[in-house]
Amino acid sequence: MDGLKKIPATEIRLHNSKKSCWLVIHGKVYDVTKFLDDHPGGEEVLLHASGTGDASGSFEDVGHSSTARKRMTNYLIGELEGYDPSKAPIPRKASSGSGSTKAVPQKPSYAISDYLLPLFLLFVAVVSWLMLGDEKTTTA
Ligand code: HEM
Repeated sequence: MDGLKKIPATEIRLHNSKKSCWLVIHGKVYDVTKFLDDHPGGEEVLLHASGTGDASGSFEDVGHSSTARKRMTNYLIGELEGYDPSKAPIPRKASSGSGSTKAVPQKPSYAISDYLLPLFLLFVAVVSWLMLGDEKTTTA
């Protein structure tokens, strides 16, 4: 909805060479052809990530700096047509503002079996304490 050109995945797939290299990161399409030579991580990784269809995972794995993230905007050419953030990989770092990719908070789930062992140990401890107390009173 932010006026970016929608680009179909079929078209993006055609641009995975040194002549023309496009990347999809979090639903946005970047033309990094001119950046290949300057990328501090080397051109190979970009070319490889370009061929995978979605470079979000590898981009986040590297833990790119905020400067790197700002530089990305220089290469932005559009967004992936039919991009569904709920099906996309959840960004692992930097939840910077726009709010379009919300990480779904995971509710911790507890089962009764989680409590059984500690309860049992507590029970054994109380029983042995009571029995010890009994022994002392009967022997005294
Ligand atoms: C438009 C997209 C990208 C931009 C603007 C970009 C920019 C940068 C920058 C500025 C650095 C230097 C370190 C930093 O500031 O974080 C870097 C390093 C690196 N990048 Fe990227 N990058 C992009 C995409 C990718 C992708 C898709 C991969 C996938 C594998 C990747 C892999 C790496 C690696 C391996 C390093 C080297 C990290 C190191 O040696 O510490 N980059 N990138």
